Amino acid sequence: MTRPLVAIEGLSKTFPGLQALQDVGFAAQPGEIVALVGQNGSGKSTLVKILAGVEAPDPGARVDVAGTVHVIHQDLGLIPQLNTVENLDLGLRHGLGAALPTRRREEAEHARALLRQYDAAFDVTVPVGQLTPAERTIVAIARALDGWERAKGLLILDEPTAALHSDEVGRLFTAVRRAAAAGAAVIFVSHRLDEVLDLADRVVVLRDGRLVSDAPVAALDHAELVRLIVGAAPQHAAPREPCGPGAVALQVRGLRGGRVRDFQLDLCAGEVVGVSGILGSGREHVGALLFGALPRAGGDVAIGGSTLAGGDPRAAIGAGVAYVPGDRHADGAVMTMLVRENVTLPNLRRLRRRAGRLDGRAERQEVVGWLERIALRPADPERPLELFSGGNQQKVVLAKWLRNDPRVLLLDEPTQGVDVGAKAAVYALVRDAAARGAAVLMASSDTAELASVCDRVLVMRDGTVSADVRGAHLTEERLVIEGLALATTNGDPCHD
Ligand SMILES: Nc1ncnc2c1ncn2[C@@H]1O[C@H](COP(=O)(O)OP(=O)(O)OP(=O)(O)O)[C@@H](O)[C@H]1O
Ligand SMILES: [Mg+2]
Repeated sequence: MTRPLVAIEGLSKTFPGLQALQDVGFAAQPGEIVALVGQNGSGKSTLVKILAGVEAPDPGARVDVAGTVHVIHQDLGLIPQLNTVENLDLGLRHGLGAALPTRRREEAEHARALLRQYDAAFDVTVPVGQLTPAERTIVAIARALDGWERAKGLLILDEPTAALHSDEVGRLFTAVRRAAAAGAAVIFVSHRLDEVLDLADRVVVLRDGRLVSDAPVAALDHAELVRLIVGAAPQHAAPREPCGPGAVALQVRGLRGGRVRDFQLDLCAGEVVGVSGILGSGREHVGALLFGALPRAGGDVAIGGSTLAGGDPRAAIGAGVAYVPGDRHADGAVMTMLVRENVTLPNLRRLRRRAGRLDGRAERQEVVGWLERIALRPADPERPLELFSGGNQQKVVLAKWLRNDPRVLLLDEPTQGVDVGAKAAVYALVRDAAARGAAVLMASSDTAELASVCDRVLVMRDGTVSADVRGAHLTEERLVIEGLALATTNGDPCHD
């Protein structure tokens, strides 16, 4: 047996009042792809941060890593103010002549070439904060995976696929397999269990900070993996009740802006409609455009029959629109504030008593109810949001907007980073909002999710709606086929 690239023994990590990891041990050989899975808050990112040297373990642990460590952190670790070229830090910048225009052109060209490996083409000179979550992910991937033919070591990917569509995932996996074949050890964190079974050689399962299983992938299947992660029989997604659509709550005609060239929709109260499509299809911009977070270049939007102006989130909120963005760090939440404050932030009015003072007890009671519904871990409303795991942060953002009983609910990647157990809770909340009369539009790169939660799904291609998939046609396979324009027959694309 070759010497392992990574060897961990007796690894524990204690945060004030919380044990994130307890006596964890495993090893990874050169060329091996090890998946690390577990529920939100089970300790995966903490383990990643310790391997990356960002966090120190409790005394007594043995953590050996031979060679260099490259990490794609769950929050990507990019600097939003810098552009793609600068974030890639291609190393051409140093020394004399770094500021020369020719040098800058060279760097931009090199960056574009790197992105082309992932079939991505976007402006490499705008700050990455202005890119979509999927585009940012590709920047982080390109950076971490550049040069693995030369350097052996440990490659760690903490939920790299959360914002990616299946064909982008395919290209990432090709690059990861190439790195492993060249002798890297890979640790891959994901909540998408099909990906885990597809990519990994071995799967390590954490539950509440303890290692509960370390097994070759051949010994596992989807059901067994779910059982190991959840530690009990899994919940199933909420059954989809056919909703007799009420009145049209959101009408959209000829919407243009960002990657969207022409988008139409009649969304009824009580309906859950999905938006699918690969990166660049426009899928990723529809929600922000409708909400006004992205400027509108043209088209008409009406809420309950009244015209809604573009580029004005305040007017949208006033008309009863709620928007849960895909990027919780950028605009979904205030990380330094408590969970309780984040949940009640958008609507404190309801909790004000006559003199305008806040009713603290009512607030706490209501928040505790929400924390149960979203299965927050730990269920502590008085903890700052930044101390929660990524998936738990996303659930808090969702609760914050659902609490307002919106007339129109716009969701971007609502379960990004949410674990298999809590996903069911999120789906139930979404269906529940629709049952109470909300019109829900949900854009997602997760085709399985769309197929299981939505009443119908609009597939976008090249900025326009290319298919409206519903009824018996609404399967994950169909969405992938339509999104990639692989359809050999016309299916039933019924445009509005
Ligand atoms: N700096 C910190 N201070 C206090 N507690 C923390 C800190 N970082 C993480 N934790 C806690 O440690 C636990 C493990 O968090 P971690 O981020 O490792 O979970 P995870 O498995 O990556 O979850 P997810 O799937 O949601 O990303 C959580 O309960 C989290 O709240
Ligand atoms: Mg994590």
